[in-house]
Amino acid sequence: MRIEINLSRGEKARIFGPASLQVHTGRVVLLGAELAKGDSVRIADSRSYTLKSEGDSLVEVVLEGYGRIEAPRDEEEPIDEWIYIADTILDECDKPCVITVIGPVDAGKTSFSALVSNRALSRNVLPAIVDADIGQADIGPPGFISLGMPDTWITWLRELEPVAMRFIGSIEPGPVAGRILASVTSLVNEGLLRGAGVVIIDTDGWVSGWSAVEYKLDLVRLVKASHVVVMGDIDLYRFVERSVSSKVYYARSPLVYAERDVSDRRRLRSENYQKYIGGESREVDLTKVSIHGSCLLSGSMVSDESIYRISREALKSDIITITRYPGGLCILVDSDEQPDTQTIKSLQRKLGNETIVIHRGGMTNILAALSGPDGNDYPALLESVDLDSMKALFKTRYTGPVVRVIFGRIRLTPEYREEGVRRLWI
Ligand SMILES: Nc1ncnc2c1ncn2[C@@H]1O[C@H](COP(=O)(O)OP(=O)(O)OP(=O)(O)O)[C@@H](O)[C@H]1O
Ligand SMILES: [Mg+2]
Repeated sequence: MRIEINLSRGEKARIFGPASLQVHTGRVVLLGAELAKGDSVRIADSRSYTLKSEGDSLVEVVLEGYGRIEAPRDEEEPIDEWIYIADTILDECDKPCVITVIGPVDAGKTSFSALVSNRALSRNVLPAIVDADIGQADIGPPGFISLGMPDTWITWLRELEPVAMRFIGSIEPGPVAGRILASVTSLVNEGLLRGAGVVIIDTDGWVSGWSAVEYKLDLVRLVKASHVVVMGDIDLYRFVERSVSSKVYYARSPLVYAERDVSDRRRLRSENYQKYIGGESREVDLTKVSIHGSCLLSGSMVSDESIYRISREALKSDIITITRYPGGLCILVDSDEQPDTQTIKSLQRKLGNETIVIHRGGMTNILAALSGPDGNDYPALLESVDLDSMKALFKTRYTGPVVRVIFGRIRLTPEYREEGVRRLWI
């Protein structure tokens, strides 16, 4: 459906995607970006934004599917405050600023991050955005932390191509918080080295409970954030304000917005796995690279026949190989199914060692990364591995040299949907 809307000065319109809009006359502001005659924007499915007219303007909106447009009530819309906070922070940045944006799920963190980037560009300050949300990654694929360097205004981080990526390998931050902290810090520094006048860190929505709070506070401290913006949770704001030495601002969340349910989020992840991985098959000689995240491939072969016998009897399955890593044993069973946890626990008691069991059928479609000599991690999907020749096939778009292979915790289906999560698959 195509409609034309006339907006008078200061008037707002909330648009739910999928939709696209084009400015015919006048000027409107969307996520802090000023759109003039001829400018157009697409608003994706399951996203909503509120635009505001600067003077009298005429905007053509094309609504697709469930797309719709409505007039927001003043109390529903924080967009003026967001612009004010972004501008105030940018005014305070006499040297490069690092802004950490935190808040619960759907608080508006990603939108606010884009808004700060747009406001920075409008005053000729180069922005860098670190997408530190491994679960709902927008700049790169899920399981990665990515750096984007926008050179024009954006309405969604998905419009950016990553200029640097670090592999985390999980879509849950809890178990890998240390890896995230190190990766975010390194990408913040990379953004500063590339000349950013402001680095914006968009984080995940895990803010409830002590582990979550501690992790967010560690992040703020380690990246030496000059500013923190806490969104949509006033108690969290007060807590953060008391805990860090950065300048802390509170930003309200919009009261009305396009919500994403679990299946929308899964679909969005799937789209980004496909976008960044769906390439050619590439063979990697595992004897020529470092290997991270595999007990099987990094361990040394066990030859003690009794360990094989005990394992075979306990797991009721043929054993392909057993390797030893510091403090434990890694057992590969010749099975399509993973043995159950109780059976593995009882085997562990018999062997008197930490015991990790993996299965042959699980050693495929594992999210991984190929690290280049430039320090970047490039998305890859393990297709198969030949343990005799130590050659592995990966689906990847990366064609450069490989110095390291890192295996993650996520297993995908051939259609790039998440199939399972496990600490070790290989
Ligand atoms: N000013 C606004 N008015 C209405 N809806 C908005 C506005 N700004 C953002 N939204 C919508 O609110 C929803 C949540 O925003 P956003 O994705 O930025 O939040 P988030 O905190 O990053 O969420 P997540 O925790 O999932 O990463 C999105 O659908 C977004 O399009
Ligand atoms: Mg987000």
